[in-house]
Amino acid sequence: MSKLQAVPGVLQLSPYVQGQSVIEGVETPIKLSSNESSHGPSPAAIEAFQATASVLNRYPDGSQSALRQAIGETFGLDASRIICGNGSDELIQMMVRAYVNQGDQVLLSENGFVMSNIHSIAQGAALVIAPEKNYCVDVDALLDRVTEKTRFCTIANPNNPTGTYISGQEMRRLHAGLPENCLLLIDDAYAEYVEQEDYEDGSALVDEFENVVMTRTFSKIYGLPSLRIGWAYCPASVVGVVGRIRTPFNTNGPALAAAEAAVKDHHYVANIRKHNNEWLTKITSAVEEMGIAIVPSVANFYLLKFPESRGKSGSSAADYLKAQGIIPRPAGGSDQYLRITVGLDHENLAVLDALSAYMDQ
Ligand SMILES: Cc1ncc(COP(=O)(O)O)c(C=O)c1O
Repeated sequence: MSKLQAVPGVLQLSPYVQGQSVIEGVETPIKLSSNESSHGPSPAAIEAFQATASVLNRYPDGSQSALRQAIGETFGLDASRIICGNGSDELIQMMVRAYVNQGDQVLLSENGFVMSNIHSIAQGAALVIAPEKNYCVDVDALLDRVTEKTRFCTIANPNNPTGTYISGQEMRRLHAGLPENCLLLIDDAYAEYVEQEDYEDGSALVDEFENVVMTRTFSKIYGLPSLRIGWAYCPASVVGVVGRIRTPFNTNGPALAAAEAAVKDHHYVANIRKHNNEWLTKITSAVEEMGIAIVPSVANFYLLKFPESRGKSGSSAADYLKAQGIIPRPAGGSDQYLRITVGLDHENLAVLDALSAYMDQ
């Protein structure tokens, strides 16, 4: 029997289960389970990645300066307050490690992305979960649960797995009701897809306040999840703190190079956004016509709710889709739901055909 003792919070956790990626007997399944971009990265990013093959014997630039500069120029942000991470997952982990203590309360929304939950539990914090209204973050429900022990609050905007968002005004109202010693982490992994006028990414709030951080990723619209690269925009004091726990080479050279080229290719990103949002509209009307409810999404995925009254469920729909070579993702906390990523034209058409056949069964 091992005498080793892990810290108590870690023992409360179960290992993360990632979206399914294979179907036995299907050579090239249509993988729509992890909100990846079926378009892949910009050709410029692939070229930049390939060019790093000759320098793999060298450590990458630990200061991440070229990528931070490129991000700063693209989004009009202060590059000195950007930190890049091994995916935004790592940045969320670093923020929680730096700012959440044992016994603190961490405020989260019912359907929020799980990474903050995992790391907060590991720190020995208590999760306080606010219910959502119509699958959307409910600022009043969050504010009702603020106490003097609330030290950290994460909101994914748009949220995963619902795909819904809250307006810039609502985010500001939430921030105004949080204690000044509570860090608000705005996880904007899907921000590049959003075209709604009342949406704001978290950067203006970061510029205005000392207790707000925004995280972003190259895993979604930029099509680089395999390279694990994301970034956080932070107040200077947070950069100073997180810099103490960031490992010197947390982002690898090929990832830094590919992401730099990707963020500069504005045209490529604009085309993917347009394609995604046109498909969201088409998919919404098609599934509604089939009698499947869909949560209004502004991201690159959608959450479907199958009608129990017709004997339908998320799991039986998933089985049906998988039999057609399509991999969706169980989500939404009950068997009524299924989350599906928006894919290429032929992938979306295959999904709609399969869903229609499933509903007609
Ligand atoms: C809301 C949200 N935040 C963060 C992430 C993690 O992204 P990354 O690949 O940058 O770690 C995801 C991935 O699915 C996500 O949905």
